[in-house]
Amino acid sequence: PDQPKTSIVIFGATGDLAKRKLFPSIFNLYRKGNISEEFAVVGVARRPWTNEVLREKVCEAVTDVFDVEQDKLDRFVNHFNYLPFDVTGKESYHELKKQLTQLEGDYNIPGNRIFYMAMAPEFFGTIASNLKSEGVTEANGWTRLVIEKPFGHDLSSAKKLNEDIREAFNEDDIYRIDHYLGKEMVQNIEVIRFANAMFEPLWNNRYISNIQITSSEALGVEDRGGYYETSGALRDMVQNHMLQMVSLLAMDPPIRLSTDEIRSEKIKVLRALRMVNGEEVDNYFVRGQYGPGIIRGNEVPGYRSEKNVDPNSKTETFVAGKLLIDNHRWAGVPFYIRTGKRMGLKSTKIVIQFKELPLNLYFNKNQKKIHPNILIIHIQPDEGISLVLNGKKVGPSGETTPVQLDYSNDGIDTVNTPEAYERLLLDCMLGDAANFTHWDEVELSWTYVDEISKGWVTSTKQIPLYDSGSMGPKEADDLLGKDGFQWWPIKEV
Ligand code: BG6
Repeated sequence: PDQPKTSIVIFGATGDLAKRKLFPSIFNLYRKGNISEEFAVVGVARRPWTNEVLREKVCEAVTDVFDVEQDKLDRFVNHFNYLPFDVTGKESYHELKKQLTQLEGDYNIPGNRIFYMAMAPEFFGTIASNLKSEGVTEANGWTRLVIEKPFGHDLSSAKKLNEDIREAFNEDDIYRIDHYLGKEMVQNIEVIRFANAMFEPLWNNRYISNIQITSSEALGVEDRGGYYETSGALRDMVQNHMLQMVSLLAMDPPIRLSTDEIRSEKIKVLRALRMVNGEEVDNYFVRGQYGPGIIRGNEVPGYRSEKNVDPNSKTETFVAGKLLIDNHRWAGVPFYIRTGKRMGLKSTKIVIQFKELPLNLYFNKNQKKIHPNILIIHIQPDEGISLVLNGKKVGPSGETTPVQLDYSNDGIDTVNTPEAYERLLLDCMLGDAANFTHWDEVELSWTYVDEISKGWVTSTKQIPLYDSGSMGPKEADDLLGKDGFQWWPIKEV
C-alpha cells in the first residue's frame, strides 16, 4: 500500500505510554519506510516543555529500545513538535489547529489527522468536544481518534464516554486500542484456523473438549496500585484482552477479510456468551489475590502491602472463569480463562484440547487413557504452535507415547517490544480497523463482566490468597476439576 501521510497529535506526550510504546513505534515505521518524510507529530500535555525537550525525550525513548544511526534519528525527531496544553482552555485548541495547518504545509501532508489519547481517560470527552467545537477536526483529509483503555470501568461509564467521543467522531473513525490485537500470534489465530484444511472441520463441539486461555504475569501491580484498586483483574484483563481472544477462537469464518465482516463474526460470539449472574457467579468465576511469596528467588510482598493499596483490599489480582458459548458450534464446550499478577511466570498461551477417540485401541504405561490431542498457540513470550499427537513408543511394548511437534516463529522474545503498537498505528493510518474494538464489542463485554462484578459484590465467599510465584489459588484448579479437566501446564521457555 501507499505510504500514509498524516499528522499525529499525542495527548499525554509526556507520559509513560508515549515514551515506552508510541515514540519507538513511530520511529520503527519511519525506519522501515512504512511512513515517509511526510508526517508530523504534535505532542501535547500540561508540562511546559519545548520542542527541544520533547525531541530529546523522543531520542532517549528510541535509543532505549533500538540501536540507531544518529543522522536518521536527528531527521526523525525534527518531525516532532511540542505544545503545552490546557485541555479545558479553548486557546490551546486554536494554537493546535494553527500548528497542524502549518505542519501540513511544511511536510506536504494532505490534511489527515490522528488524535491519539494517551492519557487519563477523564478528559477524553472534554478533548473530543473541544476538538470539534474549535474546528480542529475540520481538515481537508480524514480525521481519526485513537483511544486507549480503560474504555470506562463498567457499562454505564463506557456508554457515557462513547457518547462524548461520538459527538466529534463517527464510529468508523474511532480506533479503540486493545494491544493484544496487535500481537503477532493473536493475529495468527485467524490464519491458523482459516488457512489450514485440517483445523476448521474439527473446530467445534464434536471434536474439541475444552479450550484454555492463560495469561499470567510475574509482575505485581508495580506503581499502578491506585488504578488497580478500582479495576482488578476482571476489568483490567478479562473485559478486553481475554474476551477478545475468546472471540477470535470461537468466531465463524468471515466471508472476506474486511473490518466489518470480521467484526460482525466476533460480535456474534459475544452475543452468544451465556450470561452468568447472581449466586451462580461463584460457580463459574474464581477470584484470588496474591499474598507474599518468591519469584525467581526473590521475596516479594503481598498485594495488600503494595503502594496505594488498601491494607484490607478485596481487589482481585487473579481471576479464572468458565465461559459457555450458546451456539451450534460451541454448545457444551467450556472456554476456561485465567489471568493474574505475581504468578510463576509471564506467559500467554491458548490450549485447545481435543476429545477422546470413540474407541481407544491403545493404552500407555499404567493402562491409563491415551493422551488427548492438544494444539497450543504460544502468544508470548515465545511465539509459535505446538501440536501434541500420539505415536508408537519405540520397541516391542505396544505402548503409545505423546509426540510434540513444535513450530516457533523466530525465538525473539516479544514481551515489552513496541511491535504491537507499531502494527496498530500503521493499521490506523491505513484505515484498517479490523484489529481495533468496535463499540458493540465494548458494550457486550461490559454487559457480561458487569454481571460478574455484581455477583461478587453480594457473594459471601472469601477471596482466596495465593502465593506469589504460584499459578493462582487451588479454587482455580477445582473449577476445571469439577468438569473432569485440568489446566495443562504452562512451562517456562
Ligand atoms: C494491560 C493491563 O492492558 O495489559 C496491565 O492494564 C497488564 O495490567 C498488561 O500488565 C499486560 O500486557 P502484556 O502485553 O504485557 O501481556
